[in-house]
Amino acid sequence: MEIKKVMVVGAGQMGSGIAQVCAQAGYQVLLNDVKEESLARGFSIIEKNLSRQVSKEKIREDEKVLILSRLEKSSSLQDAEQVDIVIEAAVENMEIKTKIFGELDQFAPSHAILASNTSSLPITEIAAATSRPEKVIGMHFMNPVPVMKLVEIIRGLATDDEVYQAVEVMTNTLKKVPVEVNDFPGFVSNRILMPMINEAIYTLYEGVATKEAIDEVMKLGMNHPMGPLTLADFIGLDTCLYIMETLHDGFGDDKYRPCPLLRKYVKAGWLGKKTGRGFYNYQ
Ligand code: CAA
Repeated sequence: MEIKKVMVVGAGQMGSGIAQVCAQAGYQVLLNDVKEESLARGFSIIEKNLSRQVSKEKIREDEKVLILSRLEKSSSLQDAEQVDIVIEAAVENMEIKTKIFGELDQFAPSHAILASNTSSLPITEIAAATSRPEKVIGMHFMNPVPVMKLVEIIRGLATDDEVYQAVEVMTNTLKKVPVEVNDFPGFVSNRILMPMINEAIYTLYEGVATKEAIDEVMKLGMNHPMGPLTLADFIGLDTCLYIMETLHDGFGDDKYRPCPLLRKYVKAGWLGKKTGRGFYNYQ
């Protein structure tokens, strides 16, 4: 199962990062999005990241040109017919993901692996939207993708060993570290991270301390690179809420109840860094 050509679906923060690291590792990459402006934004993020690496003398200008030459734009899922693996990084919504996987299943060649970068949704359910559940797997990258070393690899109920191994080899080629986990709500990363972030929001909601104090305690006291409220803004408060709801629905335990303050911010459209306002103001 040799992987040469990759399609990344969704040119947002995660998708463009995944496309970048794949192209840097030597894969041919199709970056797909339904919106032309998202594709343009995704390509400009990649170009900016690579230029920063050139200015820091991590890569040469000719290497940057070569990496960019491995990236192509795609506006149709039908282009999946050209690739060996698709990594889906669309919005965190089961209906949208199953629709995309159903279409990819029609177009991708029969040997192609269909991977999802979902941060908490069941891989087994996504796989059931296809006629090849044995070729469906979770490849959960962390944000910012070019920097973070982890890829959580999630086996669905039917995932073939051969598929798991091919994805493990690919992850190593991307110079990332694969960690195998089973298909449970939030997997490992978000089952542990999100309740911590949710608890930080409750701590703010209950007036225990200011947002700055909460972040400072976790940064200086636990050596976290970002405080939990800054991290929530960085991830996106809508994504944090969606993941908490997935944990709450999946386990039915009150300990995963999303904080009302998180719901309120999302309702207000204060989604964090991407909208210019979350727990902090970025305007
Ligand atoms: N894209 C690409 N590169 C970036 C970047 C970005 N968005 N942000 C920072 N970098 C690079 C910088 O260029 C710099 O590179 P060099 O070492 O080559 O110079 C390096 O990262 C360090 O950056 P800075 O010195 O500017 O800043 P920093 O030391 O504060 O690090 C950080 C920034 C890496 C984001 C760090 O704050 C951090 O690790 N934060 C926590 C991130 C985290 O927890 N991510 C997981 C989120 S959860 C998730 O993704 C899963 C989910 O499902 C929700």
